[in-house]
Amino acid sequence: MQSGLVLMVGATGGVGQLVTAKLLERNIPVRVLTRNLDKAEQMFAGKAECVVGDIRDCNSLVSVIEGVRSIICCAGTTAFPSKRWEFESSLSPWDWLGAIFDRDRLIEKAKNSPMKADGEGVKNLVAVAPRDLERFVFISSVGVLRKGEFPFSILNSFGVLDAKLVGEQAIMNSGLAYTIIRPGRLIDGPFTSYDLNTLLRATTDGKLGVVVGTGDKLAGDTSRIDLATACVECLGNERVKNQVFELVNKGARPANIDWSSLFESIPAQ
Ligand SMILES: NC(=O)c1ccc[n+]([C@@H]2O[C@H](COP(=O)([O-])OP(=O)(O)OC[C@H]3O[C@@H](n4cnc5c(N)ncnc54)[C@H](OP(=O)(O)O)[C@@H]3O)[C@@H](O)[C@H]2O)c1
Repeated sequence: MQSGLVLMVGATGGVGQLVTAKLLERNIPVRVLTRNLDKAEQMFAGKAECVVGDIRDCNSLVSVIEGVRSIICCAGTTAFPSKRWEFESSLSPWDWLGAIFDRDRLIEKAKNSPMKADGEGVKNLVAVAPRDLERFVFISSVGVLRKGEFPFSILNSFGVLDAKLVGEQAIMNSGLAYTIIRPGRLIDGPFTSYDLNTLLRATTDGKLGVVVGTGDKLAGDTSRIDLATACVECLGNERVKNQVFELVNKGARPANIDWSSLFESIPAQ
């Protein structure tokens, strides 16, 4: 199990909060990269170091990365246009209507579109990461290799799967040690709690087991709780070093998920 400093990217998000809580529970030191210091400190003050940075801006990452042994990136923006795309100015109804015919025009007006956050942002993290990083764990998505197939063709209407693939490829071509996890549609939460113990007590509503696979063949729902546990379990696990796998919930749920055996069942790539 890894014990060095982990940089958490997207720690204030649904999965990121759970990952951070689980890391802290295991006494793993965490540095939280945040765009909103107040929000992050309300959640993690006194437990994790909170530093300001934005993955779209390489300069903001240089000091943030110092001393980091692993990176877990749970950051992302919405698949479809929303406030979280941070449009340059408020959009008129004509802009929204125009998006039906010209999606690229709408995407250009967004400062935090999927390509800017999930694609370019991840490339920036790769660029600044120490070459001897122990692990870069990245949350991608099922469907990245099936963008032409329903329902992924709809999900990718505004390029979220294109962006995830750009992120994946940057990591895989970097020479850094990595684990890329592709979840299905996220269920369970997002829980927003400023009490980490409350987060740790969250249980999966899905009550299904965990299935892993390769080659982007799986589809279905993925519990944020299971996904967060997988991110933490990957650290220091040699079997999933330099592996990409899908993770969805299916079948009967055992009393305890045996993560080592699950990871062993992933065919080596
Ligand atoms: N929702 C799904 O069904 C689904 C399916 C497959 C994969 N995924 C992926 O699963 C991951 C976790 O999902 P989630 O629901 O936990 O996400 P979430 O709640 O939307 O959280 C996203 C996080 O990303 C951060 N972020 C966004 N833009 C950023 C930027 N430019 N620089 C730094 N941080 C930035 C946000 O920080 P702020 O607090 O500053 O906004 C937030 O902490 C994401 O990568 C998502 O793409 C989701």
